[in-house]
Parts: sequence; C-alpha cells; structure tokens
Amino acid sequence: CLAWGSASAQGAYPNHPISLVVPFAAGGPTDVVARSLGASMAKTLGQSVIIENRTGAGGTLASQHVARSAPDGYTFLIHHNGMATAPALYRKLSFNPLTDFAYVGQVADVPMTLLGRKDLPADGMAGFVKYAKENGNKINLANAGLGAVSQLCGMLLQESLGVQFTTVPYAGTAPAMTALLGGQVDVLCDQTTQTIPQIKGDRVKLFGVTTLERIKALPDAPTLQEGGLKGFEVKVWHGVYAPKGTPPEAVAKFNAALRAALKDPAFTQKMAELGAEIVPEAKQTPEGLQTWLQSEVDKWGGVIRKAGVYAD
Ligand code: MLT
Repeated sequence: CLAWGSASAQGAYPNHPISLVVPFAAGGPTDVVARSLGASMAKTLGQSVIIENRTGAGGTLASQHVARSAPDGYTFLIHHNGMATAPALYRKLSFNPLTDFAYVGQVADVPMTLLGRKDLPADGMAGFVKYAKENGNKINLANAGLGAVSQLCGMLLQESLGVQFTTVPYAGTAPAMTALLGGQVDVLCDQTTQTIPQIKGDRVKLFGVTTLERIKALPDAPTLQEGGLKGFEVKVWHGVYAPKGTPPEAVAKFNAALRAALKDPAFTQKMAELGAEIVPEAKQTPEGLQTWLQSEVDKWGGVIRKAGVYAD
C-alpha cells in the first residue's frame, strides 16, 4: 500500500485509514485524548484515524508493536510518560524509545487526581494521609500496570507517605475506575481526562491534584503539596510516534494534521473541560518531542532506579 514516488495509481498519502495505537483500555484517559484527537486529525488528513487499543505490560506491548510495524505511514502510537519510564522499569525491553521511532510531536499535558472510593472513611488530604498511615497494605491501590502513569503516581505517593499499599493492576485505568466505582479497590491516582466526569458526578472522593499549582478545571481541589506532600508533582504528557523509517513526507503530513487539531475548538474545548492543556507550538514538533523524551528518560530513570522498582 505504499504510495511514495511518482504519481501512484493509489493516489497521494494517505489513501486509506490510519491506525493510531493506544497502549491502554478503551474509555480510559489515553483513549479519550486519542479518539478526540483522531477525529479532529481526520478532517485534515481526509482519511479516518482508527483507534486500536493494544493493552498489556504498562503500555510496552503497544510500543513494541508499533516499533516493529511496517514504516509505511499507516501506523502511529500515542503514548505518555510511560515511553520514558519503560527503559528503567523493564530490564528486558525489546525496543529503545530513543532510537526505534520516528517522532511526530507532543499533544497535551494532563494533571492527575488522587481519588478514593466514595465510601472510603477518610476526608480531605489530612484525612487521607492519616488513613493511609493507619491502614498501609490493607489499602488496595489500582493502577494500569508497571509503566502506567497511575503506577508512577502511586509509587511516588507511597514513597512520600512512607507506606506500602497493595497494588492491583488493570489493563488501563478505565477498568481500574470501574473497580473504584464498584468499591473493589480503595484508591486510584488517575488523569483528569478520565476523572473529571466522575468527580463532577460525585461518584468518587477527591483528595487532591498532582500539580504544584491548583488547576482551573477543579479550582477547589487542593494540591497534594498543600496537603503536606512537599514537592509532589506528576504531570502527564503525550507524544505521537511512528515506526522508525516512516517516510518523512508521511511524518510531516501527520504532524501538520496534529498541529491543526491542536487549534481545532472541537478538540481544544474538550481538552480544556477535562483539565488538559495543549502544549506550546515548540513542543508540537518532532524535535520538540525528541528533546523532551530524552529529558524525561533521564529524569524518571533516576527516580525509578532510586526507588528500586522494576520488572525482569
Ligand atoms: C495510565 O497510565 O494510568 C493510563 O493513562 C491509563 C489509561 O489510559 O488507561
């Protein structure tokens, strides 16, 4: 299905639908961003963007799949911080985030929220800290696997509280949220792109946000730092990738569609309602993503090695 070179009978790229791989379950925060982004990008590309959820191993199976896919401009990946934490978390990673991809650009930054099940007997950050210290590993903390930002946030949370919870991994935070709503787990740290509707519907307990400053979308929510966890910060960023060797013309077209989407009110308004912030233009480029990824690999590599968390 290659259409490169001189006038092909199949027409110019793209001449059929494009796959955008999401490393976590449908309905979760990464999926919400991907579907809305894909719908907007399709308007520029003139082809649909099909979301493909490939779950497992905290997002690394999806990255591996895309790294090994045909570099023909029809397979892309959207992934978050997990792309940068994978080399430290997985000792036998079969791909290198820094060398095995073509880089398209960044999308949006998303705060996280610390939530409890609705009937958790703890209120406010002070109540949560007390409850956590008293109940330790009796508390079930849901996440989306090693390499998910819910895991990263939970790891930092346990470290800063000096407690160890019991971790329950899911294929994404969509099923983790279902478990929280059903009372099967106690605590979840998750992105506002999934949690704001549940918070506004009063179906979960909100303890705080993981940014250093309060956020516009939830102005009454304290930061974890205000709640006594000094310096606590997790911000989620999203990058779009293609297999290494993807024709530069395809990367450029996909990037142009991405940048158009980041100005499209249909996408930007939805992101604003869900607490997400579109990245500045300098980050919307292949170079912007690559430089950022390198800095995040360095930053989180150090934090994770210090915490001693990894899979063999
Ligand atoms: C996570 O890393 O926790 C994910 O964003 C979860 C998801 O998209 O399901």
